[in-house]
Amino acid sequence: MQILVTGGAGFIGSHTVIELIGAGHEVVVIDNLANASPKSLQRVAQIAGHEIPFYQTDIRDRAGLSAVMEQYSFDCCIHFAGLKAVGESVQLPWEYYDNNIAGTLVLLDVMRKHGCKNIIFSSSATVYGDPAEIPITENCPKGQCTNPYGQTKSMLEQIMTDMQKADPEWNVVLLRYFNPIGAHSSGLIGENPNGIPNNLMPYITQVAVGKRDHLNVFGNDYDTPDGTGVRDYIHVVDLAKGHVKALQAVERNCGLAVYNLGTGRGYSVLDVVHAFESSNGLKIPYVIQARRPGDIATCWSDPGKAERELGWKAEHGLEDMCRDSWNWQRNNPNGFDD
Ligand code: NAD
Ligand code: UFG
Repeated sequence: MQILVTGGAGFIGSHTVIELIGAGHEVVVIDNLANASPKSLQRVAQIAGHEIPFYQTDIRDRAGLSAVMEQYSFDCCIHFAGLKAVGESVQLPWEYYDNNIAGTLVLLDVMRKHGCKNIIFSSSATVYGDPAEIPITENCPKGQCTNPYGQTKSMLEQIMTDMQKADPEWNVVLLRYFNPIGAHSSGLIGENPNGIPNNLMPYITQVAVGKRDHLNVFGNDYDTPDGTGVRDYIHVVDLAKGHVKALQAVERNCGLAVYNLGTGRGYSVLDVVHAFESSNGLKIPYVIQARRPGDIATCWSDPGKAERELGWKAEHGLEDMCRDSWNWQRNNPNGFDD
C-alpha cells in the first residue's frame, strides 16, 4: 500500500516507517519537525537501505498538504503528528487544541477531498482517564482527561467516529497506546525528548548517562504492590508492528475499529528501575517525591482484541525494552544532536 505517515520523523513514527517498509509498503513522511530532528529520517534511511520521501509540512497547512496529496495516491494515512507533552498542554492549551485538533481537521478534509478515507490514528490510554476496570478493555468507558493533551485525543476520537458514522466510506482505526519505551535494536533511532524528560524511561536513561543525578519517583503511597505507579510498558518496535497489522483492518473495510496496544502486564516504577539496573548492570539512584498531579495509580491493558482480530501481540519483555532504551541513549548521549 502507499501510506502517508504524518509525524513520521518522531519517536513512534520513525520506528513505524521502518516496519512499514519491511512489510513492503511505500511510505511518504510529512512532519513539521516541531519535535523531531531531520537526522531521524537519515537514520531510518540507513536502516531501510533507501531514502524516504519527506516533506517538511505542517498538518495545518492546507495548501502544503494538498500539494503532497496531489503527487501521490495514498491508500491510507497513519497519523502520528501532534504535540504530546502533558504538562506543556496545561500551560499552552490553545496551542495544543490548534495543533492537534485544528491540524487533524485540516488533514481529514484534505484527505477526503483527495479520495483517501482510510486513517489509523495515534490515540492513547489516557482517554480511559482513571480507568473503571483493570485490565482495560476497549469496552471500558472513556474517562475524564485531566489535561488538554488528553482532551485532544479524546475529542479527535469522537470527531473521527462521527465522520465515519456519517460517511461509511471512511475506515478509522483508533489505536490506544499504553506506555511506549525501548528503541530500534540498531541503536540508531530512539526517543529524543527536549529538555527535562517528562516520561519515566528517558529520565532513567539520562540518569544512567550522567545527565541527571537521580530519578524522582513520583509517589510511593499508591494502592499498588510497592506503592509506586503501575503502567503497561510496550516496546516501540512492537507498537510499530501493531500499525502494520492495523492496515489489515483497513483493507477489510473495518469501518470504525478501536484497539488497545499494550502488553497486558503492569510494572511499577520500581520494577522498571530494577529491570533497568539488572539488564544493563548499572545503578539508578532515586529519591521518593510527592505524587505528580494528574497521575493515576494503575493502568494496564487487555490487548486480547488486537490479538484476536489483527493477529498482533507484543513480543518484547521489559528486559528488552530496558536494554534497547539504554543502547540508544549510550550510543547517542545527546540524542540526534552531535
Ligand atoms: P513525537 O513528538 O516524537 O512525534 C510526533 C511528531 O509529530 C514529531 O516528529 C513532530 O515534529 C510532529 N508534529 C507535531 N505537530 C505537527 C504538525 N502540526 N504538523 C506536522 N508534524 C507535526 O511523539 P511520539 O511519541 O512519536 O508520538 C506520536 C503520536 O503518538 C502522537 O500523536 C502522540 O500523542 C501519540 N502517543 C504517544 C505516546 C507516548 O507515550 N509516546 C502515548 C500515547 C499516544
Ligand atoms: N514517573 C516517575 N518519575 C518520572 C517520570 C515518571 O516516577 O520522572 C512515574 C509516573 O508517576 C508514572 C510512571 O512513572 O507512575 C509512568 O509515567 P510516564 O510519565 O512515563 O507515563 P504516563 O503513564 O504518565 O503517561 C504516558 C504518556 C501519556 C499517555 C500515557 C498513556 O506521557 O501521554 O502514557 O499512554 F497518555
